[in-house]
Amino acid sequence: MLDVILVGFMGTGKTTVGEVLAANFKRPQIDLDDEIITTAGKSIKQIFADSGEVAFRQLETQVLKQAFTKNGILSTGGGVVESAANRELLRQTAIPVIYLQTEPAAIFQRLKSDDGRPLVQQLGEVGLRKLWQRRVPLYQQVATHTITTDTRTPQQVSQQIQQLL
Ligand code: S3P
Repeated sequence: MLDVILVGFMGTGKTTVGEVLAANFKRPQIDLDDEIITTAGKSIKQIFADSGEVAFRQLETQVLKQAFTKNGILSTGGGVVESAANRELLRQTAIPVIYLQTEPAAIFQRLKSDDGRPLVQQLGEVGLRKLWQRRVPLYQQVATHTITTDTRTPQQVSQQIQQLL
């Protein structure tokens, strides 16, 4: 069974916090983006370039459903809440869903030079902020807990999550 599911915008630390939690709990870490890459046999950037975002989202839903049959700490991709089917899966589960929240300006600074995040370059800072604002209520709909990660290290965020569980 999954122990916890991390959701939140790109660059909020889902993968790093997931790694710390997995090490602390001695449990596997599952990264949804990595599972998508393995399933597709290519990078996320390449999936977007070859097949577009709609195809990427379909793959993401398929891989999310499979992840619910696994054990460990699940880090999702920032757009997992875009799909109503995914939101329903996340809302209905009894597994804690933790929303990691970081301000969009900080996110843009972290990710503006990251070649692996095709959406960030496409959107620019203004577009990223708009997308962030649109998604906040979607994360809130699925989350059982919200943690602000702006000024905290992944270790501090992990400790806070461990206290919640
Ligand atoms: C996306 C976030 C990415 C990745 C893809 C799309 C998004 O995951 O799934 O590039 O739509 O926000 P991270 O949140 O791990 O960067």
